[in-house]
Amino acid sequence: MTDLHDDMHVKMKIATSEEIWKPGGPVEDWTTDYDIRDEGYIENPVPMWAAMREKCPIAHTDRLGGSWNPTRFDDVREMAKMTDEFSSRQVLVMPPAPNTPEMSRYEQMIAAAPITADPPIHTWTRRMLLPAFAPKAVTRWQDYTEELCHQLIDGFIESGQCDGAVDFSQQIPPRVIAHMIGVDAGMADQFVIWVNAVLGEAMSDPVARLKARDELIGFISEEVAKRSQDPQDDLLTELIFMELDHPEANVTPAVVVGITNLLIVAGIDTTWSSIGSALWHLSQNPNDRQRLLDESDLLPVAIEEFLRYYAPVTMARVAEQDVEFNGVHIKNGDKILMNFPAACHDPEHFENPDDFIIDRARNRHVAFGSGIHRCAGSNLARLEMTTAIRVFLERIPHFELSDREPMKWAGGQVRGPRVMPLSFEPGQAR
Ligand code: HEM
Repeated sequence: MTDLHDDMHVKMKIATSEEIWKPGGPVEDWTTDYDIRDEGYIENPVPMWAAMREKCPIAHTDRLGGSWNPTRFDDVREMAKMTDEFSSRQVLVMPPAPNTPEMSRYEQMIAAAPITADPPIHTWTRRMLLPAFAPKAVTRWQDYTEELCHQLIDGFIESGQCDGAVDFSQQIPPRVIAHMIGVDAGMADQFVIWVNAVLGEAMSDPVARLKARDELIGFISEEVAKRSQDPQDDLLTELIFMELDHPEANVTPAVVVGITNLLIVAGIDTTWSSIGSALWHLSQNPNDRQRLLDESDLLPVAIEEFLRYYAPVTMARVAEQDVEFNGVHIKNGDKILMNFPAACHDPEHFENPDDFIIDRARNRHVAFGSGIHRCAGSNLARLEMTTAIRVFLERIPHFELSDREPMKWAGGQVRGPRVMPLSFEPGQAR
């Protein structure tokens, strides 16, 4: 480690208290008192974003320890570029759990690098990942993903019903990631439990979040230690032994644990949410479903519209200094939500943004973020989404939402269906 990093090792208390977590009352004004835990907001945030964008495009709330919420495309994109002013070392949308252990700046940055890192750590940790996620490299996982989708459908097609979130969408990304990093695919169910606690239930249970995070890190640390002794032909081994041509690079086991933590957490919840939202949409819009069945080249265009309309990921930043930004005074230490989903509905950038247009021609969305942290896994995400939707439609061309049980959405950091009962004619054609 160079001298440059010395101050990075000073432990910092992360502001946290039980008080912050207490639920507030109903929201009366979305521009001054928004609540990302509000049930209506989780189910359909689009009207609230429109209200904020119109009245106060960078809204503020004191809830959950306070945060800013930019809703315009240009603001979100510009703020994502301001990496000197807004650090990524605290990207969680929810506040830290009470009694979160103190961490140094360096520990915060490598906790899930590159997403939690600022330059220069960001630069070389991101570089470690790019080759494995290049467009050509991810095609390696195509056959596995396709076969997996068929197997999952085989499991429920005769019954004429499934939970599109639990039995299908949720099953794909954890298995692809397990396969890629080289751990037993049998761990996939455990990954789902951990990721749910880290991102989903983190909305209400910070203590469970911390426990799940510790277990996940414990598991990864053991896998890293095993491969350091006994290298395998997998991504984890590649990361451990990677040599980088960058003056700041320092690939320690802790760095590899952080990167793998990110791959599991960022690669799973996001993609399963996007597959789930697409199926939810198709369950209720038979015209769009029919167009996908009839027009074989429409799917890649439709995937971009699913990504835009149902963009799942909001991230956070922490201000490193006082900043005047488009009429608001952001103070050193304030949290800013990178509301990529709201940006994807800005009428200044998208014609009729709140209409789902399956063949939308101009669609430069920011569902994968913007700037230096733009999603490194977007090629894999697109491959998984495209394969999942194509195979589902091939096997089950006609399906609908059923009222067997209520639909349930997750919100906050990653929005998507968590319970989605679907019905269809049993045993439709392969
Ligand atoms: C539809 C699925 C996905 C969506 C919508 C999505 C969205 C995002 C967004 C918005 C960011 C930017 C974060 C920020 O600015 O702080 C991001 C970063 C990232 N994503 Fe994804 N993601 C998806 C799937 C994946 C997958 C499958 C992987 C890999 C397995 C992945 C790996 C990453 C990584 C490594 C970063 C950090 C990049 C950096 O900081 O330089 N993502 N993702």
